[in-house]
Amino acid sequence: MEANPPVLATVGVGDLVLLDPLSEESLLSNLQERFLHKEIYTYIGNVVISVNPYCQLPIYSAEMVEQYCNGNFYAMKPHIYAIAEDAYSSLRDRNQDQCILITGESGAGKTEASKLVMSYVAAVCSKGADVTKVKEQLLQSNPVLEAFGNAKTIRNNNSSRFGKYMDVEFDFKGEPLGGLISNYLLEKSRVVWHVKNERNFHIFYQLLAGASDPLLKRLKLQRDCRHHGYLGDEDPRLPGIDDATNFQAVQDAMRIIGFSEAEVMQLLEVTAVVLKLGDLQLSGQFQASGMDACGIQNMQVLQDICELIGLQESILEQALCSRTVEAKQEKVVTALSVAQGYFGRDALAKNIYSRLFDWLVTRINESIQVTVGERRKVMGVLDIYGFEIFQDNSFEQFIINYCNEKLQQIFILMTLKEEQDEYFREGIEWTPVTFFDNSIICDLIESGKGGILVLLDEECLRPGTVSAATFLAKLDQAFGSHEHYESRKSQSDRHITDTSLPSTCFRVHHYAGKVTYNATGFTEKNTDRLYRGLAQAMWQAKHTLLRSLFPDGDPKKASLKMPPTAGFQFKASINTLMKNLYSKNPNYIRCIKPNESQAPGQFTDELVRSQVRYLGLLENVRVRRAGYAYRQPYQPCLERYRLLSTHTWPRWTGTARDGVQALLSDMDIPPEELAYGHTKVFIRTPRTLFDLEERRRRRVEELATLIQKTYRGWRCRTQYQLMRKSQILISAWFRGHAQKKRYQHMKRAALLIQAYVRGWKTRKEYTKYFRSGATTRLAYFIYRRLLQKFFLGLKNNLPPLTVSDRSWPPAPYRFLTNANEELKTIFYHWKCKKYRDQLSLEKRAALQTKLCASELFKGKKARYGPSVPEPFQGDYVGLQKNPKYQKLQATARGKLVLADTVRKVNQANGKMTPQLLLLTKEHVILADPKAAQPKVVISLSDIHAISVTRFSDGLLVLHLKEQMGTGGTKGDVLLVSDHVIEVVTRVHQVLLETTGQPLNLQIADQFSMQFKKSSIAVTVVQGPKGRLGPVCKKKGKKMEVLVC
Ligand SMILES: Nc1ncnc2c1ncn2[C@@H]1O[C@H](COP(=O)(O)OP(=O)(O)OP(=O)(O)O)[C@@H](O)[C@H]1O
Ligand SMILES: [Mg+2]
Repeated sequence: MEANPPVLATVGVGDLVLLDPLSEESLLSNLQERFLHKEIYTYIGNVVISVNPYCQLPIYSAEMVEQYCNGNFYAMKPHIYAIAEDAYSSLRDRNQDQCILITGESGAGKTEASKLVMSYVAAVCSKGADVTKVKEQLLQSNPVLEAFGNAKTIRNNNSSRFGKYMDVEFDFKGEPLGGLISNYLLEKSRVVWHVKNERNFHIFYQLLAGASDPLLKRLKLQRDCRHHGYLGDEDPRLPGIDDATNFQAVQDAMRIIGFSEAEVMQLLEVTAVVLKLGDLQLSGQFQASGMDACGIQNMQVLQDICELIGLQESILEQALCSRTVEAKQEKVVTALSVAQGYFGRDALAKNIYSRLFDWLVTRINESIQVTVGERRKVMGVLDIYGFEIFQDNSFEQFIINYCNEKLQQIFILMTLKEEQDEYFREGIEWTPVTFFDNSIICDLIESGKGGILVLLDEECLRPGTVSAATFLAKLDQAFGSHEHYESRKSQSDRHITDTSLPSTCFRVHHYAGKVTYNATGFTEKNTDRLYRGLAQAMWQAKHTLLRSLFPDGDPKKASLKMPPTAGFQFKASINTLMKNLYSKNPNYIRCIKPNESQAPGQFTDELVRSQVRYLGLLENVRVRRAGYAYRQPYQPCLERYRLLSTHTWPRWTGTARDGVQALLSDMDIPPEELAYGHTKVFIRTPRTLFDLEERRRRRVEELATLIQKTYRGWRCRTQYQLMRKSQILISAWFRGHAQKKRYQHMKRAALLIQAYVRGWKTRKEYTKYFRSGATTRLAYFIYRRLLQKFFLGLKNNLPPLTVSDRSWPPAPYRFLTNANEELKTIFYHWKCKKYRDQLSLEKRAALQTKLCASELFKGKKARYGPSVPEPFQGDYVGLQKNPKYQKLQATARGKLVLADTVRKVNQANGKMTPQLLLLTKEHVILADPKAAQPKVVISLSDIHAISVTRFSDGLLVLHLKEQMGTGGTKGDVLLVSDHVIEVVTRVHQVLLETTGQPLNLQIADQFSMQFKKSSIAVTVVQGPKGRLGPVCKKKGKKMEVLVC
């Protein structure tokens, strides 16, 4: 089920159109119920009823603004923001000028409502720096105008004493550009007089409370209000209002609007002058002619005023106390009576103040007015003084109530009469709703053919004595039988005795009640007379602002023509205003005052009832209920909603009416909801309109999505195509470039090859013209040169000639490596040969022996190493020289090779005996050293082999052939020699020399020896080092030899 919209879901009924049953009682109790639940706003269709809560409610926060911004009028709780939003969005989206008409009696909350509307609009429109400045200026005009134009009355502590209509101008985006304020007739009589318990205009109290001491001194004012005649004797303080703070706020506001410091000061000076005028006291003076005359009693005040405005005291004194009348080009100066003097003084004060107020509005307009010439939309907000009925009602109340009467007329015309007329015109079936049409009262007041205002003007301009009585008589004559006019005379004519109506008063039956006006003062206030002398005096002042307020004081511009009367001016400006309002789409806020005591939560039934009645709310509901909430000519309606139906979207070619019918029939709307007039379509309930709007909103979103989609698609496609084109272009360029580079490369290569080929061909061609083999020769030359260099280098760098030095410089070029190696070897061999050549025969033989020893023993016997440096001496015993060995010498004569002392091992027991060993070229001889007799002589050819050990001992075994019988041996001979290497080597050499056979040398640890036809196994064992000579131990057929 569809949920109720908030207008239905709140306390009571949010829209009185839905009230059931509808009666005055139910309407009142609905308003009361809602008021007591702090629901102060209620709708009648799109009219907002606002009941003053007289307390701050938490419904004006920024979040609330957010909620109502862009929300639908019918989708949210009734609120003043909803009407502001409706007006603003219609202005922005439908391009319609709007006006917001706020009506209600004094204290009902009109000014507050207008401020709420302005603040809402300021909050929802955009927030650029320029816009913020404009918004600030528009909003700040309120405190300034309220300070100068509002006052406390019995009905309202902040009662507007002037009418204000403010046009806010917007550009096509809905951003405020500026504004224009029109003001209507300020209640200036309040400057000089006010009822007890009321106050003068706020600014006076604010100035006295808030100004600093030096400022007050400069303005020549006293802080205490009771010192100033125009402010009365009562305590001026108001609960909840801080005049000093407000004064500061006013000054700040003026600064924001754009007032210069000098302008503010001049404004305050003129304000002070008004106050000071009230302090001027006049007294009667004696005149010789006996006529009344007056003079200034307190000259100090006059002096102060003149100082403030820069004027000679005498001029002001004369202007205040006398009057100059020009007749037939003659000036007649007449003295004024005290009463006339005071009248003049007060008129001057009132005039200065009201002109100052007009200047203020003009000055504000200068700041906020729109300078750019673009097309603009306008939202007008009208906040005018409310309908008032006081104890004593004067010309001001008459004017104020006339203004309210006109506003009521607009309301009636637009909402009741015009609407019903329209149904007739459009041919819609309609049962008329009766209502009170206040045109008759408006006519009574303003009719050009004899309304009260016209009669008043006539009376004012009439020569002769004019008084309240003559004016009243004129009224009685004209309206004696008018049903909305009463006076003592008309009543008595109707045979009614009405003591509540004094003889100087007349009564008008206004739409909002009967008001008794005191005719006294009407004519004076209407003519608004200011003695010309006073205007001229003001014009003579040096104070620029004050002087500018009185252009009529300029004697050159002086005219004898009467200026237009106040009533005439007001009527004209009200008519202009009405025309202005009629040209705009009206939005109504109807303010209701719930009680007379300005108390929160109090709902005075009777008071509200009377307002409900005179505001015509019940009739309003009736017309609204029976009628249609919404109407629109076919063409704009078709334009707005045609996107909802496939019949009318995207194109409709038929008439607008058929189009609207076609599209609405597509919408599934119950037929009773719609009516088709001659030129307009009518929709009965807001809900249907809301539904249509909602559908439109969704459809617009859909269409926007479609447009976005299409656009995005198009954009992507174009971008893709652009990218593709670019890519192709880039690749083409790149490929071209690559190919060009490759071609260049190939071209270079081809040229190179060509060059080579051509060179080669040319060389081949021309080679015959050159000497053949030049290259080879050159190469050969270079080669030789290198060799020469190499050899010369070698020559100069030959290594030392010592045989042991094997160093050789490296080859300077690689191709010389082999040659260098070869040279190194040759050089070395040459060096050796040279060394060898210089050797003696003995030395050569010795070296031969050493070489032979090396061949036999190197690496085989430990004894060899130590033997190398020892020279082989051959004869160790001095055999040749010692005569003791003569016999032996004879034996070995000429053939001795070696003589040494050895030890012979006895094979039987292993003992050793020293023996002389002689080696000749034929024999090995063992001899007894003492006897020097050969004992054993062994032919070399008998030596079968020689055995030695691996160790460094001197053991050697001479193995003899078997058939050996000579020499006296019993078998193989075992000897120990200290020169075993030399002994064996020399035996080998001799054998080689003599037999051509090398020695059979055995190097072993074990061997066998022949002894007496049997063999002995000899085992050589290495003993600890340091022991001297081998030790032989014989055990049976084994012999163990321990060597070191
Ligand atoms: N919406 C509101 N919320 C709270 N207080 C309000 C509201 N409206 C009005 N008031 C109170 O009511 C007082 C009178 O309101 P306001 O001055 O707007 O009346 P008015 O209709 O302009 O009267 P006048 O015709 O005398 O100028 C305000 O000073 C304020 O205290
Ligand atoms: Mg007001």
